[in-house]
Order: sequence, then C-alpha cells, then structure tokens
Amino acid sequence: MKTMRILAAGLLAAGSLALVGPSTAVAGNEISSVDRPQPVDQPLRALAKRHDLRIGTAVDMDALGSDTTYRTLVAREFSAVTAENVMKWESLEPVRGQYNWGPADELVEFARRNGQKVHGHTLLWHNQLPGWLTSGVADGSISSAELRDIVRDHIKTVVRHFAGKVWHWDVVNEAFTDGDNPVLRDTIFKTALGPDYIAQALKWAHEADPRVKLYLNDYAIDGINAKSTAYYNYAKQLRAQRAPLDGMGFQGHLDLQYPIPIDAAANLARFDKLGLETAFTEVDVRYFLPASTYNTAGQVGSFTVLLQACLLTPHCVMFTLWGFTDKYSWVPGFFTGQGEATPLDANFQPKPAYTALQLTLAGATGPRHRDF
Ligand code: XIL
Repeated sequence: MKTMRILAAGLLAAGSLALVGPSTAVAGNEISSVDRPQPVDQPLRALAKRHDLRIGTAVDMDALGSDTTYRTLVAREFSAVTAENVMKWESLEPVRGQYNWGPADELVEFARRNGQKVHGHTLLWHNQLPGWLTSGVADGSISSAELRDIVRDHIKTVVRHFAGKVWHWDVVNEAFTDGDNPVLRDTIFKTALGPDYIAQALKWAHEADPRVKLYLNDYAIDGINAKSTAYYNYAKQLRAQRAPLDGMGFQGHLDLQYPIPIDAAANLARFDKLGLETAFTEVDVRYFLPASTYNTAGQVGSFTVLLQACLLTPHCVMFTLWGFTDKYSWVPGFFTGQGEATPLDANFQPKPAYTALQLTLAGATGPRHRDF
C-alpha cells in the first residue's frame, strides 16, 4: 500500500498534481486515498468511507418493516442509523417497569447485519416521555426523590441493555432554551435532580457502559450563535469538572426562511478544540411548498454547507439525515405548509440535494474522521 502511494506520488509529481485538486500537498510526499478523485455515482456510505466518516439516517421502524425499497436503501446508502422514535422513553417503557425492547432490538440487529453503527437517541428528553411519568410528576404521586431513582434506573437499564451495540448516546436532548440568553430548560429532570442533572446523567450512563460515547444534542446550534455559545461554555465547564462528555450533536434541522449557518465549520472547530467529537445528527432542510427554483438551490447549498463543515472537522465522526425520503419525513406533520426536506423525493428519486451530497463527498480532501 505504502509503495503504491509513493509510486502514485511520483507519477503525479509536478504538473499532473492539478488533476487531483487543490489540497494534494500531503505531508511526507504521499498521496493518500482521500486525495484521489472518486467516481461520483456511488452510494453515500461508499463515498464517505474514504474519509472514515459515517453517513447515517433516522430509521422509521414501520417503514423498515413494510417498504422493501426503503429497507434496501437504508442498507445500501448508510453506514449509521438512528432510531427515529423507538429508543425514546415513551417507546421503551410505555408501562412503568415494563420495557418493550422489540423494535429497538430489531434496528440494532438490522444495523449489525448491514455493517452499520447505531447512534442512540435519546436517554433524557422533555418530549415523548411516557404518560405514567409525566402524569405522576404532575399530580404529585411521583416525588422528586422518586423521580431521581426513576431517572437513574432508566439510564442504567437502557445503556446496559444496548452496551456494546450502541456507538454513542444522546444523553440529554435539547437541554437549552432558545433566544438571546439561553439557559438550561426547566424540565422535570432539572426540577427533580437540580441544575447539575446533566453531569449526573453522564456519570450514570458512563457507569453503565464505560465504552459508549456520550453526547449532548440540540437544534439551532449549527452556526455560531447565542445558543451554540451557551453549549460551548457549558461543555467546557463539564469537561473541566471531568464529567464524561465525549461529543456534541448538532441536529441540523434547517429551514430556508432563516439564514443558512454558513459558519458551521467554525462552530464545529471550537468544539473539536475542546477535545470533543462532533456529529450532525438530524439533518433536513425544509421550505414552504410549492418549491421554487430558489428553494432547490437553497437546499443544495444547505446540505453542502453542513456536510463540508463536518468534512473539515477532524473529529466530526457522523453525518446523519433525519430521514432520506420525503415519503416518510416528519416535516409536513410538524411544520404546516412545509416539506420536501430530504434528499430523495417521495418516489425515492434523487433530488439535486442528493447529488450535492455525493459530489461533496467525492470531491473532498482534508482530514480523516477519527474518534477521540
Ligand atoms: C421526531 C420524529 O421524527 C417524529 O416521528 C416524532 O413524532 C417526533 O419526534 N428533534 C429530535 C427528534 O431530537 O427526536 C425529533 O423526531 C425531531 C426533532
């Protein structure tokens, strides 16, 4: 391999270097595979592999079970998967003390068979909590002391169940508020466990599986803004107090009525410098229907900006789409009048956004994407 690289470097010396793009100046006079141009028309996971980057998608378990085309494409295009819903608390423990592992285990098994990593989503989130928990807290039949035990047991039970099978966990999802002065959201977790509940949750998760990587995850933090800066400061503080935080997840739910986070690469770079892994965890780009040509261009640009940011960040280890086809996207159901937020249309046909992802992966040079 090494001989071939040196040979390639010799053959490509001087003028012909221009063929392989602008960043072929590789240390030690070697041309690594990441610097060779690639045929563009390959599955995303193949194009991402030479960067050591995992390309993921959220998986809708109903669609995986019923739609053969969907199932085939999840396997063919992606090297990481996230459960769109089935690892959330309401799905895993719909009845107090009775865990329903079936659908989540099915996804883990699908991923194993297809050489995919599993991003665990999510241990603590103020949404999609089981009714028994929210009503018990609301009517006072679950006290703060009891809730603390419930949270610890939930984290430990779930992390242990998936130990060795999940790559990273979103330990707390969407912990900060929006606006100019983001603060930790007042959730039942914060109320019961106190303002240090995140450090506590990380510690419990780490005890349950010392090897799994632990992340925080949120939306509207893709570029540099008040909320991402709040996370940056918070992550720094957690690391200083030796809390087991390994990574930061940037959801990447973009909306073309707002500016594209063109400074995403600079944002990720500052987290990388803290010694944290980074990942885009839920990327989609929505707009108001019907589409204009401007929307199509905006969507291409948006997917590209986020993927390039990841490619430029040495420890950005995963780029995950929140669904890859408009057929099953959550967007129309949650944002009135908006849609078409994924790279494939409702008939699984690639849109310009899909081709843009291929081109960006095929053309990129730069660092390989290693875990810390
Ligand atoms: C969404 C799912 O896509 C929907 O199917 C579900 O009804 C609601 O949740 N941020 C997150 C995800 O962290 O868990 C959300 O997923 C989308 C926003």
